[in-house]
Amino acid sequence: MSNVVIVGTQWGDEGKGKIVDLLSEFADIVVRFQGGNNAGHTMVVNGKQFISHLVPSGILQKKICLIGNGVVVDPAVLLEEIDYLNSKGIDIGPEKLRISEKAHIIMPYHKQVDLAREKMNGDKKIGTTGRGIGPSYEDKATRRGIRFVELLDSEVFSERVDIILKEKNFYLKNYLSSDTLDFNEIIDLYKNYSKKLAPYITNISIVIDEAIKAGKQILFEGAQGTHLDIDHGTYPYVTSSNTVSGNACCGAGIGPKEITGVIGIVKAYTTRVGQGPFPAELFDATGDKIQKNGAEFGATTGRKRRCGWLDTVMLRNSVRLNGLTGLAVTKLDVLGGIKSLNICTGYEYDGSIIHDFPANLKVLAACKPIYETMLGWSEDISSIRKIEGLPQNTRNYLSRIEELIKTPVNIVSVGPGRDETIVINNPF
Ligand code: IMP
Repeated sequence: MSNVVIVGTQWGDEGKGKIVDLLSEFADIVVRFQGGNNAGHTMVVNGKQFISHLVPSGILQKKICLIGNGVVVDPAVLLEEIDYLNSKGIDIGPEKLRISEKAHIIMPYHKQVDLAREKMNGDKKIGTTGRGIGPSYEDKATRRGIRFVELLDSEVFSERVDIILKEKNFYLKNYLSSDTLDFNEIIDLYKNYSKKLAPYITNISIVIDEAIKAGKQILFEGAQGTHLDIDHGTYPYVTSSNTVSGNACCGAGIGPKEITGVIGIVKAYTTRVGQGPFPAELFDATGDKIQKNGAEFGATTGRKRRCGWLDTVMLRNSVRLNGLTGLAVTKLDVLGGIKSLNICTGYEYDGSIIHDFPANLKVLAACKPIYETMLGWSEDISSIRKIEGLPQNTRNYLSRIEELIKTPVNIVSVGPGRDETIVINNPF
């Protein structure tokens, strides 16, 4: 029996959706454990593209999908996504999708505060997705959040909104110079959400526990990436939850002894959306080529992603923080046609060489990448399904990653489609 966690190792957008979709075939249940609809998971099956923001990527494999207590859920977005998937012929009733009663709800003031704050901060902004994720986690920590269990009780829900909204409206009007929100409108809107979502809401921890006892296999789907983790990422240019594998336990309600493997998704190069330092960032024609060939636009916001070389200082950090047991290298095909490829192996800072990812952002911003250069390949690798079939230079690139971060490559993705994959070692 295997229970596997999948996490991003960089700054998100590593292609987790595709790998989760692929590996879901071997799982009985797929669980999202953190983040919210700031995530955008793209899956391509039989040439058809699907994007999900909240529903776990296991839905296309017709698996039971759970949204854990660690996720913050915008009910409007979830209902839209349920309709979208249903319209694509994917059955997503309460027998397929369950939401934790302890998951926190994104309220209209969360989105409004997120957007108004970013506007006020000007060039000091975080570059958030504007979905209200940060303000929602903030309220969770300050005990001003509202969970699904409260949404189901209309009296408690109204009481909570009444108290919280007074403070939010004061802040919106007097500090953020933004519009205020109407109590009755919120109550009516959320009453409707409550009615529609009630059949989906349950105790996820019990569902997972019973499944594990029955010998079922669970896949835990992370969102964002290790360097966007609230504790371990490039703070404050991070998201508001723990994106590392340890949070799979907390955000789903299970103990760590159940986890049997942790797969880190590594994009063959590095990208980042939003603000914050990025030592191996490219500002030249190669960066533009990668951005174009990799269609590096955010699945949630449509923003152009910043592109750079693969950075193994970051990856070593990820191996340690997540306890990675294997890697899935994605978008390897995108590097095709680039004559020589750089891999960042360390940083130069103030005359010395740094091998560990610094916490101080001023230091990180001043770090100069130290590169090792490898020969690229010009062949189209997207139709290759066996590791032995890859060009020698491509195999050298993969082997060097393994050596530099001391973790085996289990899966290689050579195109967006589910089948455009080389599985060397299946973690299930
Ligand atoms: P927030 O999560 O909307 O608060 O945004 C905080 C930071 O995390 C910003 O830099 C976002 O661009 C980034 N971010 C949030 N979600 C994702 C994601 O799914 N992929 C990549 N970056 C993300």
